[in-house]
Parts: sequence; C-alpha cells; structure tokens
Amino acid sequence: MNITVIGAGYVGLVTGTCFAELGNQVTCIDVNKEKITNLTQGILPIYEPGLEPMVTSNMADGRLHFANSLNEQPHEPKVIFIAVGTPSDTDGSADMQYVLNAARSIGAYINDYCVVVDKSTVPVGVADQVRAAIQAELDKRGVATKFDVVSNPEFLREGAAIDDFMRPDRIIVGDASERSKAIMLELYTPIIRSKEKIYFMNVKDAEMTKYVANAMLATKISFMNEMSVLCERLGVDIENVRLGIGSDSRIGNAFIYPGCGYGGSCFPKDVKALIKMAENNGVDPLVLRAVEDRNYAQKRVLPAKIRKIFGDDLSDITIGVWGLSFKPGTDDMREASSLVLIESLIQQKARVQVYDPVAMPVAKEMMPAEWFLSGQLSFAEHQYAAVDAADALVLVTEWKPFCYPDLTAMKKLMRRHIILDGRNQYDPKQMQDAEFEYYGIGR
Ligand SMILES: NC(=O)c1ccc[n+]([C@@H]2O[C@H](COP(=O)([O-])OP(=O)(O)OC[C@H]3O[C@@H](n4cnc5c(N)ncnc54)[C@H](O)[C@@H]3O)[C@@H](O)[C@H]2O)c1
Repeated sequence: MNITVIGAGYVGLVTGTCFAELGNQVTCIDVNKEKITNLTQGILPIYEPGLEPMVTSNMADGRLHFANSLNEQPHEPKVIFIAVGTPSDTDGSADMQYVLNAARSIGAYINDYCVVVDKSTVPVGVADQVRAAIQAELDKRGVATKFDVVSNPEFLREGAAIDDFMRPDRIIVGDASERSKAIMLELYTPIIRSKEKIYFMNVKDAEMTKYVANAMLATKISFMNEMSVLCERLGVDIENVRLGIGSDSRIGNAFIYPGCGYGGSCFPKDVKALIKMAENNGVDPLVLRAVEDRNYAQKRVLPAKIRKIFGDDLSDITIGVWGLSFKPGTDDMREASSLVLIESLIQQKARVQVYDPVAMPVAKEMMPAEWFLSGQLSFAEHQYAAVDAADALVLVTEWKPFCYPDLTAMKKLMRRHIILDGRNQYDPKQMQDAEFEYYGIGR
C-alpha cells in the first residue's frame, strides 16, 4: 500500500519505518528541511533503539522515502497519516496549529479518495476540524473527491517504540466508514495476530481513549509518588509496599514505581490538555489537578534532599548526575526531571557533572551557555568521570549501565560517599555495606 506520514518525529518516523518494513511504500514528510536532508543521508533526528538500521535498510530497498512536501513524494498515497506535534498552548490546551496545517496541506494536494489518519494526540472533536480544513481546501481548488478522516491514536513508548508498534496491545480506530475500515484492517492485519485487538469506535471515543490512557498511567505514577513521601515519613519502605500491592491482579505491577517525577513529550502535556478539556466542559478536574501537582512537587524531591544534606549554599559542593533523558532508551528531554534538578543545583551554586549515554547533545541545546562557560556545569565523557571528586551522585534516569555501578572505583573517585537514587535502582543494604550513605525515594 502507498502510505504518507506527515511529521517525521518520534511517532511519524517510527510509524513510517515500520509500515515500510512491512512491505508498504512509505514517504515521510516534514517541514523541517534539515531533518529531511539528514534523513535522506540516513542521519536520524532521534535516538530510538533499532530504528536506524531499519530506516537505512528500507531506504536501500526503495520502500522508504523522505520529502519536504506532499508534492515531492514519489507515490500517490492511499493513506495519509498526520503525526505532527500537539504541544501545550499557553493556556494548557493542546495546540492544534500543526495538525490543522497538515490537514490544509492534504486538502491542497489530494485529487482522489484517500484515508486521512489522525495519529497525533488530539482533543475530542478535532477530527471534525481536520475534515473541515481538508474540505475547505478542496472547495477552493474545485476538486470534488471523497476522503475519510479516521482517528488512530498511537500508544508506542519511546525506547521500545518499534516493538510497541509491531506488537501493539490494541489498535484503536475511530469513525471508520466501511471503505476506510477495510483499508485500516488491511494496513494493520500484519501486526495484529487477532482481529479482536482492533477496536472500531466513534471518532470522539477514539480521541478520548488516548488521553484517558495517558492520564491513567500518570495517575498511577503520581499516586505512588505521593505514597512514597508518606512512607518516608512513617519509616516504611515503599519498595516493599509496591511489591505487596503489585501482586494484586486488580492493581498490577506496571506504572507503580515511585521516582523523581514523570516527564516526556506526552504525560505532562496530555494531562494538561485533559484538564483544559474538563474545564471547558464545566467539569472540575480534581483528580487530574492533583496528579499534576504531585508531579510538580515530586520533581523537587531530589533538590530538597540535597538541601537537607548539604544546606542551601552549595558553592563548595560537586554533584555528579547520572541520566538526563526523561526515561531510559531515548534522547527525549521534554519535561525531564533532570532539568528541574540541574537548574536547582546551579541556582544553589553547586558544580554539576553530568553523564547520559545518549541525551547530552539534545540537553546541551536546552541549557544556558553561561552554565557551561562559568564551569558550573560540565558533561562528562563517561559515567565515572561524572563522579570524579563529587560529594554526591544523583541517579535520575535508570539507564542499564547505571544498574550495577562499580562501587569500589566510585569510592576512590568520590570526595564523599553519598548516593541519591531518584529511581530506587539500588539495594539500600548493599549501599550501606559498601559504606555509601544512601537516599532513595520513599524508603
Ligand atoms: N513521542 C511519543 O512517545 C508519542 C507517543 C504517542 C503519541 N504521541 C503523539 O504523537 C504526536 C507526535 O509526537 P512526536 O513526539 O512524534 O512529535 P515530534 O515533535 O517528535 O515530531 C513532530 C514532527 O512534525 C513536524 N511537523 C510539524 N508540522 C508539520 C507539517 N505541517 N507538515 C510536516 N511536518 C510537520 C515537525 O517538524 C516534527 O518533526 C503528538 O501528538 C504526540 O502527543 C507521541
């Protein structure tokens, strides 16, 4: 099948590449010219495990193409995916300008029937706006072709995106006509072993499903984070509590790991957008606001622990930080907890030495140059260089190489033997035995 994906970011590039891998002809379109130039040379804009070889092999086999506009693509698509960003607007609602621009570009391009698939996360009712924007462009051009707009939200996780895409828990399709339903089934049949995994529903239900899924996951995290604060006060180990409740099949083990707050491109903005949707419709979003408030507070738990240990003035203190990205397996820095921690340390005049296996180039772009110029912030070449002469190590992102640290080497390197474990990765007893002062989350 000929497929076009508008937006070559985390979702668009993974979607396009995976569909090409399944034998389809795919063109990924992006308005960012540099991104497309790089992609045509096999240079990826993001880090995602396994994606680079899949992009290059599908390009080499002639199934995956990149272009700056719909007019430049080599094949007429039967399906056009919209996978552009939907960031928070100033009032917290989801900003639809990129989705509607994409819709207008589709209306200005198509001459024959095609299915327009909204993969971006969009508020309830946006499919109607997309349909209207396409129709208005067709009317301007006097083109009378039919088209369908369906909602098909994406649930992939960065760091495991290819696996999630190729082996989805479910596929949601909203508002499919008989014609578009057949096309969506044909498209997804190779990756769903059972047709029961594809849920056809009303378009608004599909749009809402994505927000409710993300808000539910964020709620589980914030709930456990709040419990971790209480556990700490009560002298209870949240990790034992987590095991105790996770084994209850009604609760489950996923998303109940306490930590230093959730970040990323989705949970923060999607919770915000859902709050706005609730407010705009006369519903007081009591739970959602609490989820957000707890996350704001949780990102400040590590800075508070550091103040408690070292005091407010950190001018003589060096802190090593392991991990920058909002989670392991990605270089995505959007809303990462590390940003809150590092800013707080810099404000308190600490020297900060950071290491992340992949996110340092992206993080560097987001941090003020004067932090580096003043020598307050440095990016280390190796995880152990980040703890050289450090008074404490803070683990922010649980990348695999941080799982089993060489404590003997660290004891020699570090000035003081203090570990703040923002993801409860380490065994407090083992740390104690190795004569490290250990601070976890809720233990
Ligand atoms: N990142 C995730 O893990 C994830 C998971 C599920 C759903 N989503 C949703 O998918 C959507 C995309 O997210 P993302 O993280 O891939 O975004 P992203 O910012 O990584 O990529 C979006 C891309 O769209 C391009 N773009 C914007 N307007 C365009 C236009 N008119 N024509 C062509 N290209 C255009 C941008 O240049 C950018 O490269 C969002 O709605 C997001 O909420 C993201």
